[in-house]
Amino acid sequence: MATINDNYLKLKAGYLFPEIARRVNAFAQANPEAKIIRLGIGDVTEPLPEACRKAMIKAIEEMGDRATFKGYGPEQGYPWLREAIAKYDFQARGCQIDADEIFISDGSKCDTGNILDIFGDNNAIAVTDPVYPVYVDTNVMAGHTGEANEKGEYEGLVYLPINAENNFTAKIPSQKVDLIYLCFPNNPTGATATKEHLKAWVGYARANGSIIFFDAAYEAFITNPDLPHSIYEIEGAKECAIEFRSFSKNAGFTGTRCALTVVPKTLTAKAADGSDVELWKLWNRRQSTKFNGVSYIVQRGAEAVYSEEGQAQVKALVSFYLENAKIICDRLTEAGLKVYGGVNAPYVWVKTPNGLSSWDFFDKLLHTCHVVGTPGSGFGAAGEGYFRISAFNSRENVEEAMKRIAEKFRV
Ligand code: MLT
Repeated sequence: MATINDNYLKLKAGYLFPEIARRVNAFAQANPEAKIIRLGIGDVTEPLPEACRKAMIKAIEEMGDRATFKGYGPEQGYPWLREAIAKYDFQARGCQIDADEIFISDGSKCDTGNILDIFGDNNAIAVTDPVYPVYVDTNVMAGHTGEANEKGEYEGLVYLPINAENNFTAKIPSQKVDLIYLCFPNNPTGATATKEHLKAWVGYARANGSIIFFDAAYEAFITNPDLPHSIYEIEGAKECAIEFRSFSKNAGFTGTRCALTVVPKTLTAKAADGSDVELWKLWNRRQSTKFNGVSYIVQRGAEAVYSEEGQAQVKALVSFYLENAKIICDRLTEAGLKVYGGVNAPYVWVKTPNGLSSWDFFDKLLHTCHVVGTPGSGFGAAGEGYFRISAFNSRENVEEAMKRIAEKFRV
């Protein structure tokens, strides 16, 4: 008789965003006249930059000609894309990352989960609370945790609370952990990390032989010139950090799919016999075996992000969403709500009014304003009493949603 991976039974019934979609669909079916505005999942709404579209159309034409047709590409990604990323995203900021330390993939969500394939099962793992739920759920699936308690905290994980008191940046733990997930600009709180904060983490990781998983999917939204975009801007990070990045939020690739993971060749972890093993070799082996690369057409589209035209168009897209974030922050603050984030990030983290729980506020907002957000408690126990509003939508929808919220929830 076949058996299942019992770890899946420890998971909460549904992943956060499908659960939200389920509730919204039920409401929409019962209220077909309601004009629902979706500021829940951070999914982009504006069209792909023209430079990317043009590059993809050209690539499709190449696929139609035997002389330029492409079959399987390199599992790690085409060298021209990896070189452009190394040059513009890293070397231009003083980070000595080489093209062959960059692995192209179809998403940071997948990579932050898949990376666990190359690590052992007995690592002590730290996540912030609240946190992007993928980090937690993939560890549950891999059998790295016990059961969840009534607050949804899994036994065996080290939760580092992030809250208004610590500017939503976790305190360096006093105990030893082996793997640490950090996300800056932060999903869900929209907080950012200073160089000093990341320096403290790199120092901790190097002192303890830990590896930091640094999720920089929202780095393009940083406008403050003093804030680091990459963990490799910190000396020593190449010895202790893997970085994840994505074309989803800067260039609108959520439906097109392209991302990257940086695994420096200087990064090692211990084998069972105590020897040091290069993580690059393991990830390269894993990707060559389980992944066949991102389509040529999509990689050409991603490469166009680095053209002069592409850079200008991506900058305009990011500014557009940041202006939305500013409108959300301003309107909610005027209405008397307490907001965080939304300045160097596309997410606004709102204290729920009148002491409402996160899900109660979600339901009230959906039913009275026909606006969808994300309940803070869906990101972890410490997110209870908060609510995330995404700036990814049209200007018209953002303005309208804020008007509706301000009318109903002025405090
Ligand atoms: C979010 O809303 O948190 C993001 O869209 C999730 C993701 O990028 O996978």
